[in-house]
Amino acid sequence: MTENSKLIALVTGASDGIGKETARQLAEKGVRVLVGSRGQEKGQGVVDEFAEAGLETEVVQLDVTAEESVYLAAGEVERRHGRLDILVNNAGVALDRGPLTEAPIEDVMMTFNTNVFGTLRVTQAFLPLLKKSSHGRIVNVSSGLASLLDMTDEASKYYDVLLPSYASSKAALNAMTVHLARELGPAGIKVNAVDPDLTKTRYVDLPGALPVEVGAEPSVRYALIDDDGPTGGFFDRFGPHKW
Ligand SMILES: NC(=O)c1ccc[n+]([C@@H]2O[C@H](COP(=O)([O-])OP(=O)(O)OC[C@H]3O[C@@H](n4cnc5c(N)ncnc54)[C@H](OP(=O)(O)O)[C@@H]3O)[C@@H](O)[C@H]2O)c1
Repeated sequence: MTENSKLIALVTGASDGIGKETARQLAEKGVRVLVGSRGQEKGQGVVDEFAEAGLETEVVQLDVTAEESVYLAAGEVERRHGRLDILVNNAGVALDRGPLTEAPIEDVMMTFNTNVFGTLRVTQAFLPLLKKSSHGRIVNVSSGLASLLDMTDEASKYYDVLLPSYASSKAALNAMTVHLARELGPAGIKVNAVDPDLTKTRYVDLPGALPVEVGAEPSVRYALIDDDGPTGGFFDRFGPHKW
């Protein structure tokens, strides 16, 4: 594959955890990966680490909560590459420390500003570049905790996992995914939400947590779906996830 024919992917929040692993796996599959990182130095550290393993990637500084940084990043990607084929909206936070009735509203706002508005902000900013791709793909990294069916099912393994503002934000992200998919269908851009499943990362060290290599699988798979692949869906590594 020549450098110009490579797919170009931006992964937000690729400085750590599932996003970093998603970036690695996409690069291993021959995609030109832009490592989205809110810290330039941390992102460069990831790019250097990948380079030691023979993977050529590049850092794009981007804080999904900061309008200016997002639009500067989009301008930078336009100058460097002129288009974007894949956007993985992975950056996310979980700030819950108790019940929603007592949650500091600032924490809830920051959760939504990152997980929901941040995703929309980045999507809007990069849309002109995605429209220049012949097969644009957007993956919104959601969570099993987003499922309204699981939230209301006492038998669900998620029923007692109480991160209410986080879960609410990911449910909103899922709804947004459905609408974005409908709006972007005519432009040939497929938009799906994925659940990595419980994955061992810096803040998640629970029994049964999966390695990042597994947690990143759905993001990678739906970033690379064919033109006859689904859009507007919610998937985990086994297939469709209940809404
Ligand atoms: N781990 C799980 O069990 C699990 C399960 C379901 C869904 N998820 C979802 O998977 C995604 C990745 O989570 P993770 O577990 O890998 O978390 P993580 O290890 O905490 O990594 C989160 C990444 O997002 C970045 N980030 C946070 N706020 C940002 C902002 N405002 N702008 C840009 N980047 C920002 C972080 O950057 P810094 O390095 O600068 O902090 C980091 O790179 C999230 O959307 C999360 O909700 C995780």
